[in-house]
Amino acid sequence: MDYAVEIDDLFFHHKDGTQALKGINLRIMRGRRTVILGPNGAGKSTLLLHLNGIYLPQRGRVKVLGIEVNHKNEKKLRKIAGLVFQDPDDQVFCPTVWEDVAFGPLNYNLPEEEVRKRVDEALRAVRLEGLEQKTPFHLSYGQKKRVAIAGVLALKPEIFILDEPHAFLDPSGKAELLKILNSLNDQGSSIIVATHDVNFAYEWAEDVVIMKNGIVLAQGGPDILADEKVIIEAELEYPLLVRLFKKLPEAECDKIPGSVDEAAEFLRQKMSTN
Ligand SMILES: Nc1ncnc2c1ncn2[C@@H]1O[C@H](COP(=O)(O)OP(=O)(O)OP(=O)(O)O)[C@@H](O)[C@H]1O
Ligand SMILES: [Mg+2]
Repeated sequence: MDYAVEIDDLFFHHKDGTQALKGINLRIMRGRRTVILGPNGAGKSTLLLHLNGIYLPQRGRVKVLGIEVNHKNEKKLRKIAGLVFQDPDDQVFCPTVWEDVAFGPLNYNLPEEEVRKRVDEALRAVRLEGLEQKTPFHLSYGQKKRVAIAGVLALKPEIFILDEPHAFLDPSGKAELLKILNSLNDQGSSIIVATHDVNFAYEWAEDVVIMKNGIVLAQGGPDILADEKVIIEAELEYPLLVRLFKKLPEAECDKIPGSVDEAAEFLRQKMSTN
């Protein structure tokens, strides 16, 4: 099997003793769109920080593209797995936007011309052209988030990991991010997103992982988000499409549509037969 991530029996406690991960077993397929959902404090961020070696397993093992997450492989892991942190204030630290996005590629000792090209492309992708010389500390939170995303885009990692990427992005920012993620995925990258956005997970993900209390509660296709038991246990809510179609009698609709387009097609057919 071709896995982006293999996790066996992973335990992790923070410095203050909080046991954040309590035996995670998980496989994430390579080249796919995976969403990790779970309530506040479930352990999503702690888990993601293991995927590029910022945290190292205290017990159990984590492999990313077959490479074991350990002290020895930290540099290699940072190259293959790019992580956009939940809080851009933890990630954005250079005096100007341009320098911040260039920081990673410069650290890889790429030729200057290549760094310039990558930074310009990444800033264009997140629509921050014109703000290159601005200090990130004076940007709005959503703009800072875009800088953090650009910084990882410029690294061109094979696995693209985003922790709560939608938080603070405006609707057009979210739509642009979706385009970026889809285009990276079309080019073969594995995309892993932790979010609270059940609608995004339902319509965009191929694989959904639900965490709670430091363990994986459920894993499957997006249709697990229509499972009442899973939703209640995970303290989530049904995606809007699920909420709407669950109100119809089962005889009317045997399968809940997976997207707004599918739902529209279903309704068009219903209207034309009535
Ligand atoms: N640096 C830290 N020091 C101490 N405890 C921490 C630290 N980071 C997280 N925790 C604790 O670890 C547990 C898991 O937190 P984590 O941030 O991984 O959850 P999460 O699923 O990402 O939550 P959210 O949805 O709020 O982002 C929580 O109980 C949290 O309080
Ligand atoms: Mg988090």
